[in-house]
Amino acid sequence: MNISGKSLLLTGATGGIGTALAHRLAGEGARLILVSRNQYSLDNLLARLPGEGHTVVSADIGTFEGRQKIVSACQGQLDGLINNAGINSFGMLETLDESQLHQMFEINAMAPILLIRDLLYPLTKSAGFVVNVGSGFGSIGFPGYCAYSASKFALRGFTEALRRELADTAVSVLYFAPRATDTAMNPPEVVELNKELGNTTDSPKRVADELLALLKKGKGNRAIGLPERFFARLNALFPSLVDGALAKQLPAIRRRALAGTEQRT
Ligand SMILES: NC(=O)c1ccc[n+]([C@@H]2O[C@H](COP(=O)([O-])OP(=O)(O)OC[C@H]3O[C@@H](n4cnc5c(N)ncnc54)[C@H](OP(=O)(O)O)[C@@H]3O)[C@@H](O)[C@H]2O)c1
Repeated sequence: MNISGKSLLLTGATGGIGTALAHRLAGEGARLILVSRNQYSLDNLLARLPGEGHTVVSADIGTFEGRQKIVSACQGQLDGLINNAGINSFGMLETLDESQLHQMFEINAMAPILLIRDLLYPLTKSAGFVVNVGSGFGSIGFPGYCAYSASKFALRGFTEALRRELADTAVSVLYFAPRATDTAMNPPEVVELNKELGNTTDSPKRVADELLALLKKGKGNRAIGLPERFFARLNALFPSLVDGALAKQLPAIRRRALAGTEQRT
């Protein structure tokens, strides 16, 4: 798929992965509609992007008004929607409050579903594409990330069903799963945990390159990392083996999660 000259909507544009993606997509000649809640960060990003024709929309994708604002900004041509915005609250379930749990589902699963529904007409007209940015934890339920994992499982399941539902249209539906990435989403206790568990952490630039590779292929799913792909496959076939491996990591996960919770209270 060639994205040069295409009009693409990118949510979460000012975050770690979003910023790297915005630069990569703009460098390939795409015209971007950049979304996040913070006008100042959006203006800053816009000022640094290569290419021309980019616009910004400051909107909360978790609200009806925010999504309406985004839809209005896409009234001309829309060739692709990259649902990249996401949030996580790392912690053991009993330490998370109700609004944190609701928000993870609202932003990680419901908002992408609603945005796609609302933008399906222009995407169909342009034979465009959708990329939903999930996570490795959307294939492996991970302790300390119960609600985040569940929201990303929901996003992956939705993507699979929608791809099948739109199989007789020209709209492509893609799913992309990064693993741990060096962004502000991960608080210090997660950074330390990943080091302790020996989990590889990617740079946002590497993640942007991988997403570009998926776009060039133009279909299917792409997950970053050989061991992560292997464990996802193992988890699907023999979940009890992964239960055993994660049980060994549980003391470290619990210790880091509780330390993070204590620091914030
Ligand atoms: N970092 C990782 O380790 C990792 C691993 C796997 C998957 N991922 C996934 O990759 C994606 C990008 O993550 P990231 O690491 O780049 O996160 P990040 O640096 O925390 O950036 C999140 C972005 O989403 C925007 N956002 C959050 N809530 C929003 C809302 N209600 N309305 C509109 N925009 C909102 C933020 O901007 P404002 O706050 O200014 O609105 C920001 O631009 C997410 O879907 C995440 O789940 C990340």
